[in-house]
Amino acid sequence: MSMSMGSKNITPLILFIIFLISSQFYSCSSAQTWIRAGYWYAGSESPIPDINSALFTHLICASADLNSSTYQLSIPFSQEPSFSIFTGVVKRKNPSVITLLSIWNGQAATAQSILGQKVNYSVLSSMVNKPSNRKSFIESSIKTARLYGFQGIDLLWLWPNTASDMINMAKLLDEWRAAVNSESRNSSDQSRLILTMAIRYLPAFESLSYPIESMKRNLDWAHVMAYDYHLPSKENVTGAHAALYDPSSHVNTDYGIKQWLNNSFPASKLVLGLPYHGYAWTLVHPKDNNGVGAPAAGTAETKDGSMSYMYIKRYIRSYRAPIVYNATYVVNYCIIGSSWIGFDDVESIRTKIAYVKEKKLLGTNVFQVTNDDDWALSRAVQEEENDQENKRRLLLIVLLPITLVIILIAFVVCYLQRKLLKIKGMIILGNSNLSNSRSTTTSTSALNSDPPNLQAFSFSNIKAATNNFSSENKLGEGGFGPVYMGKLRGGHEIAVKRLSKTSTQGLEEFRNEVTLTARLQHVNLVRVLGFCTEKEEKMLIYEYMPNKSLDFYIFDPTGRYLLDWTKRVHIIEGVTQGLLYLQEYSNFTIIHRDLKGSNILLDHEMNAKISDFGMAKLFRKDELEANTSRIVGTYGYVPPEYVRKGIYSTKYDVYSFGVLLLQMISGRRSTCYYGPNKSLHLLQYAYLSWKEDKGREFIDPSLDDSSSSCKLSRCLQVALLCVQENPEDRPTMLEVYSMLKTDTEPIPTPTKMAFSGNRSMENISTSQQGSCSVNDAQISELQPR
Ligand SMILES: *[C@@H]1O[C@H](CO)[C@@H](O)[C@H](O)[C@H]1NC(C)=O
Ligand SMILES: *[C@@H]1O[C@H](CO)[C@@H](O)[C@H](O)[C@H]1NC(C)=O
Ligand SMILES: *[C@@H]1O[C@H](CO)[C@@H](O)[C@H](O)[C@H]1NC(C)=O
Ligand SMILES: *[C@@H]1O[C@H](CO)[C@@H](O)[C@H](O)[C@H]1NC(C)=O
Ligand SMILES: *[C@@H]1O[C@H](CO)[C@@H](O)[C@H](O)[C@H]1NC(C)=O
Ligand SMILES: *[C@@H]1O[C@H](CO)[C@@H](O)[C@H](O)[C@H]1NC(C)=O
Repeated sequence: MSMSMGSKNITPLILFIIFLISSQFYSCSSAQTWIRAGYWYAGSESPIPDINSALFTHLICASADLNSSTYQLSIPFSQEPSFSIFTGVVKRKNPSVITLLSIWNGQAATAQSILGQKVNYSVLSSMVNKPSNRKSFIESSIKTARLYGFQGIDLLWLWPNTASDMINMAKLLDEWRAAVNSESRNSSDQSRLILTMAIRYLPAFESLSYPIESMKRNLDWAHVMAYDYHLPSKENVTGAHAALYDPSSHVNTDYGIKQWLNNSFPASKLVLGLPYHGYAWTLVHPKDNNGVGAPAAGTAETKDGSMSYMYIKRYIRSYRAPIVYNATYVVNYCIIGSSWIGFDDVESIRTKIAYVKEKKLLGTNVFQVTNDDDWALSRAVQEEENDQENKRRLLLIVLLPITLVIILIAFVVCYLQRKLLKIKGMIILGNSNLSNSRSTTTSTSALNSDPPNLQAFSFSNIKAATNNFSSENKLGEGGFGPVYMGKLRGGHEIAVKRLSKTSTQGLEEFRNEVTLTARLQHVNLVRVLGFCTEKEEKMLIYEYMPNKSLDFYIFDPTGRYLLDWTKRVHIIEGVTQGLLYLQEYSNFTIIHRDLKGSNILLDHEMNAKISDFGMAKLFRKDELEANTSRIVGTYGYVPPEYVRKGIYSTKYDVYSFGVLLLQMISGRRSTCYYGPNKSLHLLQYAYLSWKEDKGREFIDPSLDDSSSSCKLSRCLQVALLCVQENPEDRPTMLEVYSMLKTDTEPIPTPTKMAFSGNRSMENISTSQQGSCSVNDAQISELQPR
């Protein structure tokens, strides 16, 4: 009697505890369905193997175009190779990552939408307009997705414009879903395609509303594009372009999400967009204490002010600017000169993840993955998520022993009462579940394989050589970390570039430099001896250059006298030879993209050696030019076609060489202003001086070319040819070489200079007017995002 009473009392308790545990297990397993998606833009030409796919659950390859007459998908010809390997390559690092194919309404229309303009003509709009068009689109989308191995399709329609767009979109989604379902029934071996769509942060805008019912029915989920709310090209005060909150306006993510939820769009189908880019504004009163809402006068740094996270961070590092976090808006910003740059740093991202959790949204989707600075943001996303999971696991760890003890007591009591409770199976069940709740930590290998011809140095070796990285051994600080002088045991002198440990930045550049320079051997290129990747260190070991870099001499009031014209000619010849090798004589065509005084190093005989291949690009011999959406380089050395359109070719380095030549014959920086009113750029000043036959005014008066066969005035003219606006007008390095070699042959007359209408360059120069900044500013642009 009492026996059965006892077990009756215990059983509900045990059941309750088991319920508690299983609810924890349940939320653990539901955490696995959390989505960490990211867009990868195929036009960004960043290599697919560089995507750290272990940090994502879904990767979206952007973007397929739509043929405006057939309404079938077309993959841009130049991006076809990327699309065809995308799924295979990203699954190598993370076999469980799911890939989606994104379809957009064309580059021009998308760019227009990002700038907040109405899209004139949208091929998507006319596609949804007719049943036959929709049919052809839907069939082709499924076929294309399967052909390239994608597991889902994403519609990136920025943005539907009219009420009929919205009505037709509802029809499209119904038909698309039906087709996707039928396709999966037909082919039993493949799982059903996922269907997603990019949406605005608000369900209704400008008297339009999204077809919420159809979206709920048909979409697996939607990507909220929660950014680009404020643009420097549009507004005259600084703004948090991806504000989570805004006390003074409805233009913020929280307001939008609440609207979606209030319109009964399920939280479990909302994936929050995270921007990996920011915007730069020109401050009206740079001296004031400027925050969000400070008076501004247009864009800064780039044409439309947009900058990728990676370049914002790099830029901030090179200026050592402090980053402010404003929790009212959830935005980070920094001020550099007269530029105000607003963006999402790790704090903002973490706050947004917490928000996603709080609102029980489905996950996050970043735009776009390669804008990250060595995966700092994506890691933050993952850690923040794991944090929550860990809390649950902690709870479990506390709960489980208590349960076991109680169960044990119950067991003992019952056993003593010779009544065996059959709970053994439950304990085993609990244990096996525990071991199943796997951790999702990832490891990334810094270098997939060691490059050939390079020695791997041990960390202890380098540590000893550099006297434990002592400050006496420090040669300088680059954008990616300090450079040290070292002496190996045999007495061999080396230079060690050590990537900053704290920020682990520049991994891509590091890899680039290691793999590229391993293939390059020339007397006028700095030789990389090896590398060290032990203990999470990333170091490059170079031959040591005792005479520092060219800029140390030509801009220095005393240093300049150490380099007479004969020595300078020797250096110019060296740089020319180095570039000739890169462009003409090596197996590949290499574009350095960061040629400048500080990257021309001098050995003990004052021979020039080109260094720093972190930004360099490798071409096959038959490729002529390429296009990039990431602008890199240094202000003053970057040609206009690159700043404007992202086009680069060998003429990029010719341009930088021209600037370098102008600096070497004049001793003038490109960051200062010259001429009677101090209103002319270096290039303008050089051109006008030459045109008005006053070249002597431009040239450094201490230089004497009387005993050299290379005349200063001829050099000036060659330099001006190199910096011409049109890249085709610029000579090749072979032509430069022959023009400098002889002084008899006539040479062409330089035409239009490359300074007109170059806003980003003007901006930076203006901000530094009078101060003549010694630092070169790294620039960047991202377009489209
Ligand atoms: C669209 O497809 C047609 C037929 O395949 C083709 O002739 C046309 O060039 C394509 N248009 C574009 C803009 O690609
Ligand atoms: C939009 O269309 C109008 C008239 O068709 C045209 O003048 C204008 O240039 C177009 N705008 C853009 C950005 O294409
Ligand atoms: C699936 O099969 C049915 C019947 O064979 C066919 O009518 C339908 O078009 C197929 N659907 C797809 C998407 O292939
Ligand atoms: C800024 O723009 C607003 C609206 O576009 C305008 O009312 C205001 O006068 C402008 N302020 C300045 C200082 O230009
Ligand atoms: C939510 O929707 C209801 C009607 O559907 C409306 O009355 C209410 O004002 C909305 N709330 C907000 C905060 O917009
Ligand atoms: C955020 O910025 C606003 C406007 O500049 C300011 O009023 C507010 O105090 C700031 N909040 C924090 C937490 O810094």
